[in-house]
Amino acid sequence: MSSDEILVIDLFAGPGGLGEGISSVMDKNGSYPFKIGVSVEKEPSAHKTLTTRAFYRKVKDSELGIESYNDYLLGNFTREELFERFPEESEEAQQETLNTPHALGDDNEDIHSRIRQLVAQHGDRAKVVIGGPPCQAYSLAGRSRNAGIKEYKAEKDHRNFLYKEYLKVLSIAQPDVFVMENVRGILSAKVDGEIMFPQILKDLRAPGRITKITTPRYKIFSLVVDAKDPTNPIYDDPNDFLIKSENYGIPQARHRVILLGVREDIKRVPETLTPFESQSTVEQVLADLPKLRSGFSKRKDNATDWGRVVSKNATQVKRLLKKQFEQAKDLYIKPFKNLSRSASQPVECPIQMPEHLIEWYRTVEPPCVLNHETRGHMESDLLRYAYSAAYTQLSGGTSPKARDFPADLAPAHENWNSGSHADRFRTQAATKCSTTVTSHISKDGHYFIHYDPKQCRSLTVREAARLQTFPDNYLFEGNRTQQYVQVGNAVPPYLAQQIGHLVLGLLNQSV
Ligand SMILES: C[S@@+](CC[C@H](N)C(=O)[O-])C[C@H]1O[C@@H](n2cnc3c(N)ncnc32)[C@H](O)[C@@H]1O
Repeated sequence: MSSDEILVIDLFAGPGGLGEGISSVMDKNGSYPFKIGVSVEKEPSAHKTLTTRAFYRKVKDSELGIESYNDYLLGNFTREELFERFPEESEEAQQETLNTPHALGDDNEDIHSRIRQLVAQHGDRAKVVIGGPPCQAYSLAGRSRNAGIKEYKAEKDHRNFLYKEYLKVLSIAQPDVFVMENVRGILSAKVDGEIMFPQILKDLRAPGRITKITTPRYKIFSLVVDAKDPTNPIYDDPNDFLIKSENYGIPQARHRVILLGVREDIKRVPETLTPFESQSTVEQVLADLPKLRSGFSKRKDNATDWGRVVSKNATQVKRLLKKQFEQAKDLYIKPFKNLSRSASQPVECPIQMPEHLIEWYRTVEPPCVLNHETRGHMESDLLRYAYSAAYTQLSGGTSPKARDFPADLAPAHENWNSGSHADRFRTQAATKCSTTVTSHISKDGHYFIHYDPKQCRSLTVREAARLQTFPDNYLFEGNRTQQYVQVGNAVPPYLAQQIGHLVLGLLNQSV
């Protein structure tokens, strides 16, 4: 690391969304000041993705590096062969991700000793800890699931206390700044009947109180609301910590709590994020990706059968929609011919992508479209997909609720009309930003139906990655289900880059 480099310690790193954004921040001299020293992740496929990306960052400034990485993306050689070509860089990349998946809490000896070593080598230059402890136990979805478990006691759920692992690392690293991301549910989660959030803030302000290590104190800032008294930032409303990604150039309504901890001796005050003038839409960021067809699950898949079924569905959907929308008579939703289930060549497209995202997705263009392959759906669901997508188009961007589905299309599910399934088949409207991309997208895709009824399918991993603002050459390793989970878990890298700029400004580098 050079003299003004900032050490980044990335915890619960997932596929590396936060790390990607922060490490892409460029200063006025054209250098990238943030350098990831270690990324800790326990899930093997996410760990593999992280390592591949760490490797990419180490070779991307050489022509041979990019050429070789692209060859790997094209399948011209294996990952092992790629790594063998660049022994030094691959060694460094693997060291960055601790060689193997590691779990905070279980593998603390390794993790802590590596962090201590990095901190010692880094001396008194700036350090940043990023990442958020996982949140299932206090996420809203997790809580409704847990409510169904008779013996469930939030105070016994160790996931509630993984943030204490985070406090331990803060105590060891004593960074200048930390960025902690979490789900909105953290604001209202209760343990033993008590709201946890004020306690979490208290712990984060003084990590040493919990870990019994002498540590500096921290001020906790919001990234979107100015503190009334920056010397003692206290906010009246916990929602002040909530960031609505769609206001910051992300084509997705993703609302997350992000806390910025600043070591108490740092007197400078962080700026807040600057909202964008307009929101980006789903169609703007997906329209140039190759059109695809879905497949059949639970029966043999072939293109001709698919075309026949979807064509027949289109006629039925049009007939049903004519009863609800006058304009349905002009609807043309016959499936495209000759579509395949995966494609790797981008297409010409008249829809203009917002300038900031063109640059961001394609900083270095990949030689092919990555992770763009559809999954199979139940034949009966294909009709519902076509209906949902066509309805959304005709209604001007509102996806149908369960009550809007004609009785013929209602699934044989006893809760269908209960309200709990109101959004069971949700189309991501072309003209709006998407709803939150969650790891649930790995399950069946019903909440993430493509807006084009002629393709009749859920989103691919690449499309979800676009909504999450991963650059186009970001490769997700692992099987398709694992890739979806990784994408759904991440912090949008483009948002992370904006946060990185604020942190850099605070650390008084030349921005
Ligand atoms: C919400 S994701 C993090 C996303 C990441 N910050 C990003 O921007 O891409 C949380 C991650 O923590 C990982 N994880 C859960 N428990 C862990 C533990 N004890 N140690 C390390 N990683 C853990 C999960 O596998 C998951 O990938």
